[in-house]
Amino acid sequence: MESSWLLLLSCLPAVWVLAAAAAAAAGRSPGCATRCGEIDVPYPFGLDPQCAIHAGFWLNCTTVDGATKLLDKNSEVTKISVEDGKAWFKNFISRQCYNQSSGDMFENNAWVDYTGEPYVLSAEDNKIIVLGCNSMAYMQSDSYIIGCMSTCDGPLKNGSCSGTAGCCQAELPPGVQFYQGFFNSLHNTTKIWKQTPCNYITVMESAAFSFSSTYLTSTVLYDSDDGRTPVVMEWGITRQKCEEAKANKTAYACVSDHSDCVYSDAAGYRCRCSGGFKGNPYVVDGCADIDECLDSATYPCAGICKNTLGNFTCSCPRGRSMINGVCVKSQRSTWMAPVVGASVGLVTLVIGVTCAYLVRERRKLHRVKQSYFRRHGGLLLFEELKSQHHQQGAAAFTIFSEEELQQATDRFDAQRVLGHGGHGTVYKGVLKSGTATEIAVKRCMTIDEQQKKEFGKEMLILSQVNHRNIVKLLGCCLEVEVPILVYEFVPNGTLFDLIHGDHGQRVSLDTRLRIAYESAEALAYLHSCASPPILHGDVKSTNILLDGDYAAKVSDFGASILAPNDKSQFVTVVQGTCGYLDPEYMQTYELTDKSDVYSFGVVLLELLTGKKAFDLQGSEQDRSLSMRFLYAMKENRLEDILDDQIKNSESIEYLEEIAELARQCLEMSGVNRPTMKEVADKLGRLRKIMKHPWAHEDPEELDRLLGEPSTTTNSTATTGNFIIAIGEPSTANSTANTGNFSITKRAAMGLESGR
Ligand SMILES: *[C@@H]1O[C@H](CO)[C@@H](O)[C@H](O)[C@H]1NC(C)=O
Ligand SMILES: *[C@@H]1O[C@H](CO)[C@@H](O)[C@H](O)[C@H]1NC(C)=O
Ligand SMILES: *[C@@H]1O[C@H](CO)[C@@H](O)[C@H](O)[C@H]1NC(C)=O
Ligand SMILES: *[C@@H]1O[C@H](CO)[C@@H](O)[C@H](O)[C@H]1NC(C)=O
Ligand SMILES: *[C@@H]1O[C@H](CO)[C@@H](O)[C@H](O)[C@H]1NC(C)=O
Ligand SMILES: *[C@@H]1O[C@H](CO)[C@@H](O)[C@H](O)[C@H]1NC(C)=O
Repeated sequence: MESSWLLLLSCLPAVWVLAAAAAAAAGRSPGCATRCGEIDVPYPFGLDPQCAIHAGFWLNCTTVDGATKLLDKNSEVTKISVEDGKAWFKNFISRQCYNQSSGDMFENNAWVDYTGEPYVLSAEDNKIIVLGCNSMAYMQSDSYIIGCMSTCDGPLKNGSCSGTAGCCQAELPPGVQFYQGFFNSLHNTTKIWKQTPCNYITVMESAAFSFSSTYLTSTVLYDSDDGRTPVVMEWGITRQKCEEAKANKTAYACVSDHSDCVYSDAAGYRCRCSGGFKGNPYVVDGCADIDECLDSATYPCAGICKNTLGNFTCSCPRGRSMINGVCVKSQRSTWMAPVVGASVGLVTLVIGVTCAYLVRERRKLHRVKQSYFRRHGGLLLFEELKSQHHQQGAAAFTIFSEEELQQATDRFDAQRVLGHGGHGTVYKGVLKSGTATEIAVKRCMTIDEQQKKEFGKEMLILSQVNHRNIVKLLGCCLEVEVPILVYEFVPNGTLFDLIHGDHGQRVSLDTRLRIAYESAEALAYLHSCASPPILHGDVKSTNILLDGDYAAKVSDFGASILAPNDKSQFVTVVQGTCGYLDPEYMQTYELTDKSDVYSFGVVLLELLTGKKAFDLQGSEQDRSLSMRFLYAMKENRLEDILDDQIKNSESIEYLEEIAELARQCLEMSGVNRPTMKEVADKLGRLRKIMKHPWAHEDPEELDRLLGEPSTTTNSTATTGNFIIAIGEPSTANSTANTGNFSITKRAAMGLESGR
C-alpha cells in the first residue's frame, strides 16, 4: 500500500535539455533535401544540422526495415505544416495489461519529453484518452496531474467516449512538453482479462480518435509496441515574443517580404505569409502573391478578374457596372428601358434578399448567443440575481457582453496574459466604461455538457461569496461558447512569486503566518459558511494572490465544485497540480473538504521551508516536498529543511508547531486530517501569541488568547487538536519584549501531554 502511495506522489523523470542553441543565420543553404520519403520537410526544418534554422529543427530521415521515417530524437514525425505552425508526431500508448503466465499485471508507462525543443502539445487539437473496463489512469506533466476513470457499466457504443462505456477523455492543459501515463494499480483487469486484458492511456489528436469496442478486446494494441497514436504539436522558432525577436535582425526568422510574426504563449513566435500571399515565410522571397484569378472557387469574380500584389480586382467590361457581384448593363441607354427596368427590379430584389439574409443571419447569431446564455444557466442566474436584488439590495455582480470584454482586453491580446491555469487563461483588462476599473478576465477551456449545466449555478454561488480573503467575482459573460469570468484585479502577484521569486525579498515569519492564516480562513469560510459547501479543488501557492497590503486572496475556482449531495454527481475526471494533489482523491475520485486541507498543508510547507511543492530537479524522493517533509519529520530532521530566512532559536518552537499542523493536514487518510476551520483557528491562536509575547507573563491572558483553559491537559481533549508550546520570546516583536519571564512557559501551560 505504502509503495503505491509513493508512486502516486513522486513525480516523474524528465530529461531537461537546455534551450536550443541560438538560431543560425537566417536562410537555407543550397542543396538541402526537402523531402523524406513521402513527407515534405520545409525550412525551418532540415535533415542536416546546417539545413535547419537551429538545432531544434533538425530531423533525421532514416530507413528502417525498408520503411523511410522522419525522426525527431526517437519520435516519428508524419506531417509538417508551416502555415499552421503545427507538426504531427506519433506517440506511444501506455498500457496496463494482465500477464497470463504470471497472473499479475504489468505496465508500460510511455512518456514523451520535448523540453528544450521547439514543440508543445497542442491543447486545442489533442485530448487525454483512457480506454478500459476497470481503469483509472493519469497523465502527469511537470506540473499537472489529470486523469479519468473508465468502466464498462453502460453499453459500449462505437464513436462514443462517455466514461461508462469503455472510454473516458479529459482536456489537455496548454503548454505541456512532457508527460508520462500511469495507472492506479487497484483498478486492474485481473478479474476481466478474458474479455478485456488491458487498460490504456494516451494523449492524441482528438479528430483522429473514434472509439471502437474492438479496442478493448483486440490484441493489436495489446501485442504490438507500435500501437501508436497521432498527436499534434505546435512549434515556434524561439520562446521570444515578436518584438524581442524582431530586435535581432540577424536571427529573426520571418525573412520573406510580405510575412508577419505570430506569437503564441505556449510555443513562442513563428512566421506567416501576409494576407494575399502564400508560401514559406522563413525563406527569402518565400511568400509569393496568390493569383486569385486562377482560383475562382475561393475568389469568385463574375467580371474581369485582375491580379494585383496581395489582392485582386474584379471589374466589369466598358458599359457595364457591377451590382452585387453581377455585371449589368449601365443604366444610361434609354432605348432599353424595359431591360433597365427589369435589371433595376432584379437589383432591388437582390438587395432585398440580401438584406433579409443579413437580418436573418444576425438573428441567428443572436439566437446562438442566447442559446449559449441559456446553456450556461444564464436564465437561472438572471432570475436568481433579480430576486436577490430585491431581497438584499445591489449585489455587485454584472453580466458582461462579449463586446465589453473584448474591448477591455484588446481582443484577448497575448500581451495581456497574466497567467495560465489548467482551466484557462487569465488576461488583464480595463473596463472602458465609467471608472476604468482594472479587472482580471478568465477565459475557460471547453468544459463538458454536464459541467456547463452546473456552471450558472456555481457562478451564482461564487458571486455571493463575500470574504475579504477571497478574490471577488465581479461578473461573467455567458453568451459565448466557453464562459468568461471577470474578477477583481489583485496587484501584488502570487504567494508562489513571493516565496520563490528571485527578488531576494525577505519574508518574515509574521507575514508568512498571516498569509497562511488568512488563506485558511478563506477556505474555512468556503467549506463551512456556504451552503452547499464550496470545495476549492486546486489550493496551491500560485492560487493565493496578494493585494496591495499583501493580504491573501484565494483565487481560481476553476476546479471548484459544490460538494455533491449524492453519488450520482461523482466526478469522472481528476485534475490537479503535481505536489498538491490529495492522494486519497486520486484513489477515490471524490473531492472532499479534506482534499483542500491536504493541499493547504503543502502550502504551509512552502511557507515553512521556502521550497517548491514539486521540483523536478531533485532526486527521485526529493521531488515532492510533502514526501521530503514527512521523511524529515519521521527522522527528526525537521530543522534541516526549514527556511534559513525564518529559522532561529526564537522562532523554532513556532515553526515546530506549524510543522506539526502541516503534518496533520498531510495525513494519508482524509478523516484524520483536521478541518479547515480547525486549521485556521490554530493558526489564528499562534499568531496572537506571537503578537503578544507579554501575555506569557499572565497565564489568564494567555488562556483568553488561546481560547482554551490551560488546565485542560486531559489528553482526550486533544484529539485532532493542536497545542501551542511557547518558545523564547520572539525578537521580531521587539516592542513588549523585555525578557524576564517569571514562568517557565512549557511548564506553566502543562502542554507536553498533548504531544
Ligand atoms: C543575434 O542573433 C545572433 C545569431 O543567433 C547572435 O549571434 C547575436 O549575438 C544576437 N545579437 C544580439 C544583439 O542579441
Ligand atoms: C540524428 O541521428 C544522429 C546519428 O544517429 C544522432 O546523433 C542525432 O541526435 C539525431 N538527430 C535527431 C534530431 O534526431
Ligand atoms: C509475464 O510473466 C512472465 C513470468 O513471470 C515473465 O517472464 C514475463 O516477462 C512477463 N511479461 C511481461 C510483458 O511482463
Ligand atoms: C464497432 O465496430 C466494429 C467494427 O469496426 C465492430 O466489430 C463492433 O461490433 C462494433 N461495436 C459496437 C458496439 O457496435
Ligand atoms: C488488482 O486489484 C485488486 C483490487 O481491485 C487488488 O487487490 C490487487 O492487488 C490488484 N492487483 C494488482 C496486480 O495490482
Ligand atoms: C483586397 O481588396 C479589398 C477591396 O479593395 C479589401 O477589402 C481587402 O481587404 C483586400 N485584401 C487584402 C488581403 O489586402
